[in-house]
Amino acid sequence: MVLSDRYRSLFPITETRAYLFAGGLAPAATPVRAALDGWTDRWMHDPAYHRSRYFEEWEILKDRLAAVLGADADEIAIVDNTSRGSNLAVQMIAPPPGANIVTDPTSHPSAVWPWLLPGRRPVEVRSVPDGPPSTWMKGIESLVDQDTIAVVVSHVDPRTGFCHDLRELAGLTRGCGGYLIVDAAQSAGAVPIDAEAAGVDFMSGTLMKWLLGPPGLGYLYARREHIESLAPPHVGYVGADRDGGMDEPGDLAYRPGAVRHEIGLADLPGIAAARRGLDIILEAGIPDIEQHVLELTGQMIDGLTERGIHVLTPPGRAERGGVVAFHFDGAVQLCRHLRRLGVDVWGYPEDDRVRADPHLYNNPGDVDRLLQGIDAYRRAGASARVPRR
Ligand SMILES: Cc1ncc(COP(=O)(O)O)c(C=O)c1O
Repeated sequence: MVLSDRYRSLFPITETRAYLFAGGLAPAATPVRAALDGWTDRWMHDPAYHRSRYFEEWEILKDRLAAVLGADADEIAIVDNTSRGSNLAVQMIAPPPGANIVTDPTSHPSAVWPWLLPGRRPVEVRSVPDGPPSTWMKGIESLVDQDTIAVVVSHVDPRTGFCHDLRELAGLTRGCGGYLIVDAAQSAGAVPIDAEAAGVDFMSGTLMKWLLGPPGLGYLYARREHIESLAPPHVGYVGADRDGGMDEPGDLAYRPGAVRHEIGLADLPGIAAARRGLDIILEAGIPDIEQHVLELTGQMIDGLTERGIHVLTPPGRAERGGVVAFHFDGAVQLCRHLRRLGVDVWGYPEDDRVRADPHLYNNPGDVDRLLQGIDAYRRAGASARVPRR
């Protein structure tokens, strides 16, 4: 049985639309929505119930995230988004004079820009020159030296869909004594991750994409050895150790574990819903989800290539995840046309790029709808160009 046969019924959108943009905002599954609705109902009629369970759901969410990321639950902090997690990681690292960071040409800037904040010691930002993703690892290798304080990448790159090999990158950072900081927004949930075994130092991400949760929630993974040794850049009652006697500057004490990065109350309805999204992911199994999305992205890449469309995503299964990107003149117009046909993908006007990201609820028929929609768009364009007599 194809994985999607088991999961489509949980996603009502699949009855009408070929929704192919999990890497933007995944659609709500029925249990996810029910959890959100249930939370709101209780909030109306019995808020004290929620008050008494503030932190329970929070802990459950961290347990589930730990299973997804290959980490321990106490190495994970719930934050509001990927960008927050990346900012926290970077702000804990004090670069020595002359330090550099190394990245690739199209990783999301979530963990690059925080190095540039005013008031911080400047670092040199070294980026691999633009080129095919298959050349990036060599490029990163050539830029890393003894002054490299961090290698900073999106695990699955949002522009091309290229999937980095985290073990190889960690080998480089170990060699130079730097940190590996990974943005897993486009990978966690679609690609197996073992942060601990791979040697990742920090990893941040969001719940609303491949993890099937609502917007407004993210996570920061901090490798155990960095949790106590690097001071958090902020403090609040959730992560502070209230018995620590905090009266004087410098007295700050934190609870053990990554909880120290949680400062105030989080998005509780979101957490209740996000947990159900993670239940779906873990029940389906990430290795099976990966196989499924690789089949669909492979079908997509083949179909686009046959049509002479320039695919930016590498064809090799080891080099991609659930994200496919291709060039199309008039990407935004194409996506408008596809949307009218019930196919949702995303067009980026700045570089005429289209993104199509299938998840466990998509099936080969959805990919066919995309390809046929492109054919129809081209036919319509061709007939519009035929001079009328
Ligand atoms: C790879 C990557 N990182 C970060 C982000 C931004 O995420 P957030 O809004 O959770 O900070 C995105 C958004 O699409 C993304 O694709």
